[in-house]
Amino acid sequence: MKWKRTHTCGELRASHVGETVVLTGWVNRQRDHGGLTFVDVRDRYGLTQVVAEAAASDLQRRLGELRGEYVIAVRGVVRRRPQEMINPNLGTGEIELLCDDLDVLARSNTPPFPIDSDREPSEELKFRFRYLELRRPSLQRNMLLRHKAVLAARRTLDALEFIEIETPLLIKTTPEGARDYVVPSRIYPGKFYALPQSPQIYKQVLMVSGFDRYFQIARCLRDEDLRADRQPEFTQIDLEMSFVTPEEVFAVTEATVAAMCEAVGHERPVTPFPRLTYDEAMARYGIDKPDVRFGLELEEVGAHFQGTTFNAFRAVLEAGGSIQLLRAPGGAGLSRKKIDGLTEAAKQAGGRGLAWCKIEPDGAASGGISRFLRAEEMQALQRGGAEPGDLLLFVADAPRTAREVCGAVRLALAEELQVQRAPGLHFAWVHRFPVFEPADTPTGWAPSHHMFTMPEPESRARIESDPGSVYGQLYDLVCNGVELGSGSVRIHDPALQRRIMRQIGLQEEEIERKFGFLLQALEYGAPPHGGIALGLDRLVMLLAGGTSLRDVIAFPKTQRAASPMDGSPSQISPEQLRELGLQLLPGVTEQDGVEER
Ligand code: AMO
Repeated sequence: MKWKRTHTCGELRASHVGETVVLTGWVNRQRDHGGLTFVDVRDRYGLTQVVAEAAASDLQRRLGELRGEYVIAVRGVVRRRPQEMINPNLGTGEIELLCDDLDVLARSNTPPFPIDSDREPSEELKFRFRYLELRRPSLQRNMLLRHKAVLAARRTLDALEFIEIETPLLIKTTPEGARDYVVPSRIYPGKFYALPQSPQIYKQVLMVSGFDRYFQIARCLRDEDLRADRQPEFTQIDLEMSFVTPEEVFAVTEATVAAMCEAVGHERPVTPFPRLTYDEAMARYGIDKPDVRFGLELEEVGAHFQGTTFNAFRAVLEAGGSIQLLRAPGGAGLSRKKIDGLTEAAKQAGGRGLAWCKIEPDGAASGGISRFLRAEEMQALQRGGAEPGDLLLFVADAPRTAREVCGAVRLALAEELQVQRAPGLHFAWVHRFPVFEPADTPTGWAPSHHMFTMPEPESRARIESDPGSVYGQLYDLVCNGVELGSGSVRIHDPALQRRIMRQIGLQEEEIERKFGFLLQALEYGAPPHGGIALGLDRLVMLLAGGTSLRDVIAFPKTQRAASPMDGSPSQISPEQLRELGLQLLPGVTEQDGVEER
């Protein structure tokens, strides 16, 4: 390099006019105007316009030979742009650089998609050329925002006496409900490490070691089906505290999240965040991660239909089920096709269907199930707020299913009606979850969060006799309908921990084999403890206003957990397989499940 850069491409202002400077960067765009060649040079700080005097013909020619994404150094004098050329949308828009010399530091192939355009390239190209996509200002901004958010989290937690401790990546297994990614051991052929789904067990063991306030910006790996808000590799802000109540975990989390919001230019959210119990969230929104930015709340209306002649409702009520109502103000205008779309949403959520009717201007019901509605039922609905112009949607099913299905229809309805959502980030705590949920295990029960959650004292006696009624000191942080974090107060009594393990169907042998080391650690003076893990990628996605984790992860994986840029996952050599004592099954070929380069 001939020169050292003196300024970045986002730095020069009118106050620099007259100075000789050197800029380095990528050619964003090059254009000819009335015999003059203009080149915009870009780096992660901004753009600066470079121009050569008409008389400097050799320099003009060299500027003219530049192509998009060449890396250059330019030297010149800063001058004020002519009035009509000032660009108020650009930080450097008042000035330009009158070039006196140019050094081409690297040439570039023609990029497969333009960097300075918002036009979306194909998925395939975006993944394969992620390093070029990362040059786009939106992603550059998001990476910087992520950095600032993480820094704010670290500073806040440090100020609160938390210490950052790294836990290993090659471990046994952490049950967080997904499949483990496994790594074969060369030294112990036939044995495998698991990659952590979270640092859960290690952070509990650290409490036994006396690190009463731990945190980690922890990489977690889960082999699960991917969606826009799920990646196989993701990051948690993971923390754990000893001698703690849920209230203290809430306060630490709120301070951390608030500092992160502020650090990236959002308003500091009002703390404490609102709270609702799991039961309340399910009753009002039909989901444990409610989007509280809009109303459309659910209503239990089974009582109105005790004497119903509508068979579908009667059968459900006789079986102890529930009828949920979703009232859509102004929804009577929705077409039949749109209502069919909502019915489809109900079915996809596991419902049998959706009953509906409209309220006409004269107050009478029409369409759907209106002919089954008796006068007293209509009156009860009207007393409950049903008005002309409304669309009434009913889900009748077993209580839990009815709420969940209605919750899914609520979200679909909000899309359909383009319901206004309150602006900004709306954080809320959902707490007091059931410890167990029905599942396909030998006992019929699985942990609703994970098996280390402390059941509330008053429900401990029912762990074996009525698991569904056991509530735990469990909490989720939600924001705008996204689950941002989960945590709990943990079990620090090994005997209670064993009871929970048995209740979710683990055999004694399996308990010892998988979790014996944790149970043993709990025998050596385990303090009461609890904590939480925040999904860093999800939080940064919301802070950045993105819609996918891919907007805030530098090198994300595809929907099929591959990285087309480097071609992973990839085969390993026969020698490596041999060394690890592994053999592929016949029929497993290189193409199976792998997006080859
Ligand atoms: P949990 O499994 O709920 O809890 O994870 C905590 C938070 O991590 C985020 N998250 C994810 N983000 C992106 N991609 C994924 N595949 C993914 N999976 C989870 C979510 C979630 O709320 N050990 C416990 C925490 C604890 O009890 O302290 C745990 O990992 O935002």
